[in-house]
Amino acid sequence: MSTSTFSDILTHTDTGVMTLTLNRVARKNSITAAMYDALADALEAALHDPAVRAVVIQGHETVFSAGNDIGDFLDQPPTSLDAPVFRFLRGISTFPKPIVASVCGPAVGIGTTMLFHCDLVYAGDNAAFSMPFVNLGLCPEAASSFLAPQLMGYARAAEALLLGEPFMAEAALEMGLINRIVPPGEANALAQRQALKLAAKPLSVVMETKRLMKKGNAGLVAERMAEEGVSFGRMLQEPAAREAFGAFMEKRRPDFSGL
Ligand code: COA
Repeated sequence: MSTSTFSDILTHTDTGVMTLTLNRVARKNSITAAMYDALADALEAALHDPAVRAVVIQGHETVFSAGNDIGDFLDQPPTSLDAPVFRFLRGISTFPKPIVASVCGPAVGIGTTMLFHCDLVYAGDNAAFSMPFVNLGLCPEAASSFLAPQLMGYARAAEALLLGEPFMAEAALEMGLINRIVPPGEANALAQRQALKLAAKPLSVVMETKRLMKKGNAGLVAERMAEEGVSFGRMLQEPAAREAFGAFMEKRRPDFSGL
């Protein structure tokens, strides 16, 4: 059993399961560059550690993640593909061992898009998913511009990605983004039980099965993620994102007229 001490991301490994807990509830588990680095480091360690046979990603029963920390994003914009956020996304999207997520409350931006790269997702009945990139003057990331239409169908993806409209747990279940809906207080425990089941199976067989299931998408996901990353980095510097982020910090509605 091992436990790390960076308090915004708690890392705990026991009985073959590494559990990563987003632990910045006062800021709605919004994710800073340091947190992306911690998540990417943990996945890299899990990849090489034979004692880790499954990973759980979880938040709090009131909030999974409000997405990127907007202030931190402004201070340290991810303008290169080496930025911590892109490092984390490459790590999770190519991670060969199984990943189980537990999602309760808001899952905004990357809080939703990282789920496309998890194998099993359990949600509290309070889960609210959203990908409001356009509202922030940004394009999608995590290959969600490819994976969302593929999973949800174009019509629903357009509502989610062009309008930035949220969808609730029932809709996420129906479209196959999540596996099951439970009371929020039960989601983390269920994810843990399912991860323990995975950890008890033959790891090489689990990994090969995951690889084969993902094989058709793997190259396309990597390619799209790189293309999105270039556009995302450029858009961060452009007027629409500056207006949207400024409005968030000043707690006002953004004005996109003329943009
Ligand atoms: N970045 C930085 N700070 C954030 C944040 C984010 N993504 N999300 C929330 N916070 C901060 C809020 O500014 C607030 O700070 P304050 O107490 O100093 O005012 C605090 O966290 C609590 O958030 P609040 O909005 O009051 O909580 P809520 O329960 O009413 O709403 C959310 C929760 C997640 C729905 C809402 O905070 C939200 O929409 N956040 C922005 C999501 C977003 O656009 N993310 C970017 C995706 S790329």
